[in-house]
Amino acid sequence: MATVAKLFETMEYGPAPESDAPALEWIKQHDSGGGGGGRFGHFINGRWAAPAEGQYFETINPATKAVLAKVAQGSKADVDAAVTAAHAAAPGWAALTPHARARYLYALAREVQRHSRLLAVLESLDNGKPIRETRDLDIPLVARHFYHHAGWAQLRDSEFPGYVPVGVVGQIIPWNFPLLMVAWKVAPALAAGNTVILKPAEFTPLTALCFVEIAQAAGLPPGVFNVVTGDGATGKALVEHPGVQKIAFTGSTEVGRIIRKATAGSGKKLTLELGGKSPFIVFDDADLDSVVEGVVDAIWFNQGQVCCAGSRLLVQEGVADRLTQKLRARMEKLRVGSPLDKAVDMGAIVAPVQLERIRGLVEQGVEEGAKMWQPSWACPTEGYFYPPTLFTDVSPAATIAQVEIFGPVLVSMTFRTPKEAVELANNTPYGLAASVWSENINLALDVAPKLKAGVVWINCTNLFDAAAGFGGYRESGFGREGGREGMWEYLKAGWDNRGGEGRGERDAAVAKQVAPPERTSPISPLPPIDRTYKLFIGGKQVRPDQGYSRKIVGSDGRVLGEVAEGNRKDVRNAVEAAHAAEGWGRSSGHLRAQILYFIAENLATRAEEFAARVGREEVDASMARLFTYAAWADKWDGAVHHTPIRGVTLAMNEPVGVLGIAAPDDFPLLGFVSLVAPAVTVGNTVIVVPSEPHPLAATEFYTVLETSDVPDGVINVITGAKDALAKVLAEHDDVDGMWYFGNAAGVKAVELASAANMKRTWATARGRDWLDPGQGEGREFLRRASEVKNIWIPYGE
Ligand code: NAI
Repeated sequence: MATVAKLFETMEYGPAPESDAPALEWIKQHDSGGGGGGRFGHFINGRWAAPAEGQYFETINPATKAVLAKVAQGSKADVDAAVTAAHAAAPGWAALTPHARARYLYALAREVQRHSRLLAVLESLDNGKPIRETRDLDIPLVARHFYHHAGWAQLRDSEFPGYVPVGVVGQIIPWNFPLLMVAWKVAPALAAGNTVILKPAEFTPLTALCFVEIAQAAGLPPGVFNVVTGDGATGKALVEHPGVQKIAFTGSTEVGRIIRKATAGSGKKLTLELGGKSPFIVFDDADLDSVVEGVVDAIWFNQGQVCCAGSRLLVQEGVADRLTQKLRARMEKLRVGSPLDKAVDMGAIVAPVQLERIRGLVEQGVEEGAKMWQPSWACPTEGYFYPPTLFTDVSPAATIAQVEIFGPVLVSMTFRTPKEAVELANNTPYGLAASVWSENINLALDVAPKLKAGVVWINCTNLFDAAAGFGGYRESGFGREGGREGMWEYLKAGWDNRGGEGRGERDAAVAKQVAPPERTSPISPLPPIDRTYKLFIGGKQVRPDQGYSRKIVGSDGRVLGEVAEGNRKDVRNAVEAAHAAEGWGRSSGHLRAQILYFIAENLATRAEEFAARVGREEVDASMARLFTYAAWADKWDGAVHHTPIRGVTLAMNEPVGVLGIAAPDDFPLLGFVSLVAPAVTVGNTVIVVPSEPHPLAATEFYTVLETSDVPDGVINVITGAKDALAKVLAEHDDVDGMWYFGNAAGVKAVELASAANMKRTWATARGRDWLDPGQGEGREFLRRASEVKNIWIPYGE
């Protein structure tokens, strides 16, 4: 028997189990349609409902393989019933005062806190994660999220004037942070005034079902919050349902891509929070003991099943061996075991399929020649456990260095210089998060903006807070959750709140306002001088690859000029030129403002000539628009978020990168300027396809650009078949974002093509009144042109 003296000698932990009895009792009390308890239906329109097709599936405890409960398998009919309920509830919920909605969110936060012990145990049972994490991290963050969003609900009308809820929102969440993902999705949606259908992950539905009772206790009106459980087929039915106005998804990039394609052209708003292969960069002056604890939190937290896990350890060569030694010593001391044991560091892997995936990838890593190390102790054998694993001697191209393993497996590589560290860090299609470790804050802050990632943690890792937006770059998806950024994802402009939302039909009222067709100068009775315009690439007017051009005919049937017929090769050249000009993104706001003012000035000197083409009103509005964005250029500030750390969390607005823009056909000059100006104001470089029927104002505009000190390659213009060129741009892997203003078929084609590299798209067939500053300019455009990067910087010794 262990004596106190003996324990004192070894300092071994004794077992410290949390009781599972109240959670198991809670499960047993639920009995959808008889059968001895532990059976859950859907939650639709404020009531539990048995599944239409009578199908249930089991959810298990991955630490013991014991069946915990039976849960309804949602069918199309169930999804349909939930969407109907959410629609019925939407007007009433949206009509509440902000304060009334704030009270509901506040009540949800309070109820979460009241039931925090039950929720923590239930989460550990269903997911396998240690109670230490669910109790101290998941559940407190859930409550924090609802409190924070009670605030946004209260402030919605004053902070988001002119904006309205999107409508009915479908939310699909993964199994790694089951209740936290409920909070991240539901809190902003409800705060903004939307109604919700939530589809929890099939491995971990229990806390979402427990949250149903929290919603009931908080008195949420029927239909405002609905839960339909089930697998991918249920998620698919929700994604495809025509009554849903927005889909918010967290999960694998593979499914994210399927959803991008499924919603293409539907007009549904979409946010995707997908996978990652986040770098954890250690410079040789870092405090290595802190680094070791950081690595524990980066990759062994939640068994490494974390989308932003620091799964690629990049170490400066001089300290690599020392760090490996320290890591191995620490790994030897990690404790893997029952998730309900309060002294356990790592629990169970969520399901056998995930365990197999981890095993398979580790085997592949060994086969590909990397050196694998695991601690000497053995994992428990009764559940789905996997030990902490470290790979060294990994080549950057190895499968385990590229693929998201989603398990407790760290791959490490070395670098020599900061430049090489940044290159290695960005050598991934993902861009979710990154950690930078150095005692030299100058170095850390120099590196942070160079990392293509939505979150950068300096000398810390895996910190989250409701006030700071979270989300990725590149194939890690688009949109942000949390903070002000996250609220925008659940709102839309009030002027856009017309019937037939998103079906792509042009609004009749706006269509009437189409600008006059291009005409020749009324001053001269003589036939115009025929002119063939070239393309504008890399600051030069260049002939198109194939040498073809097309005639542009005026309303009176006269040929007004010829424009070059751009093709795929021209797009490639323009993309190259736009990438070469990326230094523009690092130039100062002041400089960008100066250049925009200069463009306006040069346009003003030729106003008459442009007015003869498109009318005076459009030219004047274009000059005003350039002034608007010159004004914004040094004011598009980020924020310092009040997150609960001693330090600062900076939210920086960064350019998306290289943006493709297909300009609207009406307003040939103003439409072009209204899109190009905000894009370049934020620091993007652009490839623009101007109005197809009326391109001459844009081609004439080249000469204005040439005289305005715009650096070569910042603005590139390709004329020709707009939809075909837009598709090429949307397909191009080196184009980071695509804006398309055209017709419904074009919207669909762009959204479909964008799925290849998950580029962010803004594609619409909806007409807008470009002359109205409320519709044609402002923050909406600047937001679309930006990625928000949150940089966490703790301070203090
Ligand atoms: P998943 O992406 O398949 O599942 C996430 C959610 O999407 C679940 O609720 C699922 O039911 C639903 N879903 C699946 N197919 C769908 C479809 N066609 N339409 C709509 N909804 C659908 O992720 P899964 O299979 O659980 O895990 C596979 C891999 O994905 C993991 O090994 C990991 O690498 C990655 N993953 C990444 C997450 C992240 O947060 N980035 C979270 C979960 C998994």
